[in-house]
Amino acid sequence: MKNEQEQLSRYLELAFNQAKELVYIKDSKLRFLTCNWSFADFFGMDTPEKAEGLCSSDLMSPLTAEEDTRTDKQAIQSSVTLSTMLTFDEGDNKSRVFSCLKAPLIELDSTIGIFCIMRDITSEEDQMEEYRNREAVNSAIIRNAPVGISVRDSVGNLLSYNKAWQKIWDSSDEKVKADMNYTRTELKLDDSDSYLYSYHDKLINVYTTGGEFFVPEVKTNRKKDGLEVWVSQHFYAIMNPDNSVQRVVVLTVDISDHVYSRKALKTTQQNYKKLSETIPVGVFRSEIRENSLILSMNPAFRRMFGFSEGKDLNVRITDLLANPAEERNIINLLQRKGRIDNCEIILKKADGSTFWASFTMSTLKEASVSIAEGVITDITGRMNAFKQLQKTIDGVVLAMSRLVDMKDPYTSGHQKRVADLSCAIGEELGMKPHLIDGLRIAGILHDIGKMAVPTEILTKPGAITRSEMLLLREHAEDGYDILKSIDFPWPVADIVLQHHERIDGSGYPLGLKCSEIRLEAKILAVADVVEAMATMRPYRASLGLHEALQTITAGSGIYFDRQVVEACMRLFMEKNYHLPEEDSLNSFRHDM
Ligand SMILES: [Fe+2]
Repeated sequence: MKNEQEQLSRYLELAFNQAKELVYIKDSKLRFLTCNWSFADFFGMDTPEKAEGLCSSDLMSPLTAEEDTRTDKQAIQSSVTLSTMLTFDEGDNKSRVFSCLKAPLIELDSTIGIFCIMRDITSEEDQMEEYRNREAVNSAIIRNAPVGISVRDSVGNLLSYNKAWQKIWDSSDEKVKADMNYTRTELKLDDSDSYLYSYHDKLINVYTTGGEFFVPEVKTNRKKDGLEVWVSQHFYAIMNPDNSVQRVVVLTVDISDHVYSRKALKTTQQNYKKLSETIPVGVFRSEIRENSLILSMNPAFRRMFGFSEGKDLNVRITDLLANPAEERNIINLLQRKGRIDNCEIILKKADGSTFWASFTMSTLKEASVSIAEGVITDITGRMNAFKQLQKTIDGVVLAMSRLVDMKDPYTSGHQKRVADLSCAIGEELGMKPHLIDGLRIAGILHDIGKMAVPTEILTKPGAITRSEMLLLREHAEDGYDILKSIDFPWPVADIVLQHHERIDGSGYPLGLKCSEIRLEAKILAVADVVEAMATMRPYRASLGLHEALQTITAGSGIYFDRQVVEACMRLFMEKNYHLPEEDSLNSFRHDM
């Protein structure tokens, strides 16, 4: 028996001294009676005996000693074991934290001392601090996330939710508790909502067996601005160690804007399709590349080209162009500018016949591949009417020109020859065809003002007097007055007014200089002089082409525009140009 007690005492002593925890015993006056080696080591004592008779303030900082003493007293007074914590400052912002169990030592109903075990929990405390910080960050993110987040237990009790979730369901805290608790779906289900109802089993699975489930789009029973709220929802389960469902987290996103935009877009597309099927202009879509394919065409387009209805066609842009090489220009324009506006072009039908069309094309910005959409209008009727009108204008112009010829038979054909040479110079200078058309009209009519000059002066052989010359010179202004009220698409009246101006300002009627004179008038001036000198007149022999060309060369840069003179010289000297014979002047527009 005695041996057993001795052995037990030895074990207790070993446990006391070898324990990693810090252990001490104090008497009722809170003086250390004994401590173990770990305690002595921690407080820098050689042996545990050194602690005997000391009190806390002998070993600890004043604040820690005060806390230790306070809790010792508390344990003694309450006569129950107390759990507390003590912190020891180690400098450099470091500290050691101990969890302390303080047990009063009671003998015969009175407390005779205190027994304390201190466990170093510094690393645990650091982890707890990190955990608390992480929790704070996570909850801040969840609280302010733009996505609705709610957490439920496995039977549907609502445990927590964030601001975005509350906004989606438009619920006050009280309303949330009343409305949204005890439900696993977050949506009020009824038989009419077959769409969501079909998902119900899958949702219940997440709550009962775990896993996750995504509802991409569902209509809620809430309304915002009079419109139903649509959401997407992602349910996923958080599992317990025993594999039962602990929590279900639900992410909810309000996708109402997306749903309504898509519906609006669909309606727009349907309207567009209906419109493109009924409008009388051809609508098509095509690729933007060499040998590009027509991807779609409306019924008017099919009718326009004579393609059969309701059959998929393998038609390329080049199949529709009278000149297939023009596809390159179309592609270039689309790639450079993104659109082509009202381009007039000759197109080819399925049977090979051609027609005039105006087309507008633009690239589709949203397309990931290069696609363009186009509208084609058949303008054959308009083009025919335009050509007819042109013929009429030309006829009237020719008739007016002949009036001058009738009054001044000596210069018959002068205006037409000047017009012919002017157009040749214009082409040589690279003028656009449209401007050359205006130049032709101005040339044909440039002496129309001579209608107002007395016939005696026009037909007077030999020299004329100064007053006669002044009268003759009025033909430029008279021509302007005759033509100014005609709404030509070119400035014909101005060109006629300026055809006797000279670039040094020595001309008439206004004495204009250089850039003040229109290019067309500068061309007419050169052609007028060359024709007048090179052609035989009834009252004089021809002065000869050679002398005519010498005159304009001598006046180049003084009276005549240098570039115009050079172009005229090239025509005669290099390009074998000849002024037209009288017989060939019956029609001035041979292509019509
Ligand atoms: Fe003239």
